[in-house]
Amino acid sequence: EKGTYPHYMLKEIDEQPAVMRKIVQAYQNGEDQLTIQPEILDAMKNADRIHIIAAGTSYHAGLIGKEYIEKMAQIPVEVHVASEFGYNMPLLSEKPLFIFISQSGETADSRQVLVKIKELGHPSLTITNVAGSTLSRESDYTLLLYAGPEIAVASTKAYTAQIAVLSILSAVTAQFKGLDIGFDLVQELGIVANAIQAQVDMKEEMEQIARDFLSTTRNCFFIGRVMDYFVGLEGALKLKEISYIQAEGFAGGELKHGTIALIEEGTPVIALATQEAVNLSIRGNVKEVAARGAHPCIISMEGLQEEGDSLVLPKVNELLSPLVSVIPMQLISYYAALHRDCDVDKPRNLAKSVTVE
Ligand code: M6R
Repeated sequence: EKGTYPHYMLKEIDEQPAVMRKIVQAYQNGEDQLTIQPEILDAMKNADRIHIIAAGTSYHAGLIGKEYIEKMAQIPVEVHVASEFGYNMPLLSEKPLFIFISQSGETADSRQVLVKIKELGHPSLTITNVAGSTLSRESDYTLLLYAGPEIAVASTKAYTAQIAVLSILSAVTAQFKGLDIGFDLVQELGIVANAIQAQVDMKEEMEQIARDFLSTTRNCFFIGRVMDYFVGLEGALKLKEISYIQAEGFAGGELKHGTIALIEEGTPVIALATQEAVNLSIRGNVKEVAARGAHPCIISMEGLQEEGDSLVLPKVNELLSPLVSVIPMQLISYYAALHRDCDVDKPRNLAKSVTVE
């Protein structure tokens, strides 16, 4: 039930701090240690390469999962769009592990890949919000998201839940392999939950940004580097699917290789700046587009902010920053869609779970 909320999407955005805490709780044992079933840890440890298979928003979560698994657990990862994988299978290594990420657990494109890799005899793990869903039943192992039902077509809390579960899987695998990740994930996820809360409490500011940057535009670009690039892809998808504004996410350095030709007087460019190592270069990219007339909206993080930034997010661990920086993406898209009188929860041409190829 959406209760007093005008839309499920807004309710689901607001639920994210609670979902973060629920996930940490669900993955803790009696001694407050993060745990994952030993069979899954063995499968992770035995894999010489991991293939993440997903679609849409879940694919975007997979891009971040790759960073976590590679950086924390030190296993090489490839991320694949499910609908492509079945027709264009990469050369597989000897001991691959397949991780399916799917909110619904019913996406046909991913199911087809699961059938194929099972025929080849490879192990599979599904990360899903729906216990008993097809992907969960048909794969060897399952990790649940504990996000509660997601009703709005635009995925919000499932994305942050997927990222949180991927961080836990990576950290626990690292520990299982005797690797030190260098920080306390439970503590950092607690800080993240508070930072998300601070964002969802800033609805007026988010609505104002949507008004200032998106009320009349035909198109919009999202730029970022490293983790911020992946969040920009998700920001663009969110904005497209519910507000029908044409939006694209780019790596900050890539615009000048062609797309910068589309920048006109007033074109909104939403730039994320949460990563210290690339802060100067993303700021440089903003100057490049501003010099061509773009209307830049910079979303930065405490410690990296500069005068004129539209929003400064509370400081969190840089690897976990997508959990926080995606919140303004979701809320700005929500308000942009609302101002344009779009059907926020049920955008045209879309279904909640895509069960056809
Ligand atoms: O249920 P799934 O996670 O497998 O769904 C995948 C995509 O269809 C889904 O994420 C879609 O992109 C959303 N509408 C995005 O908001």
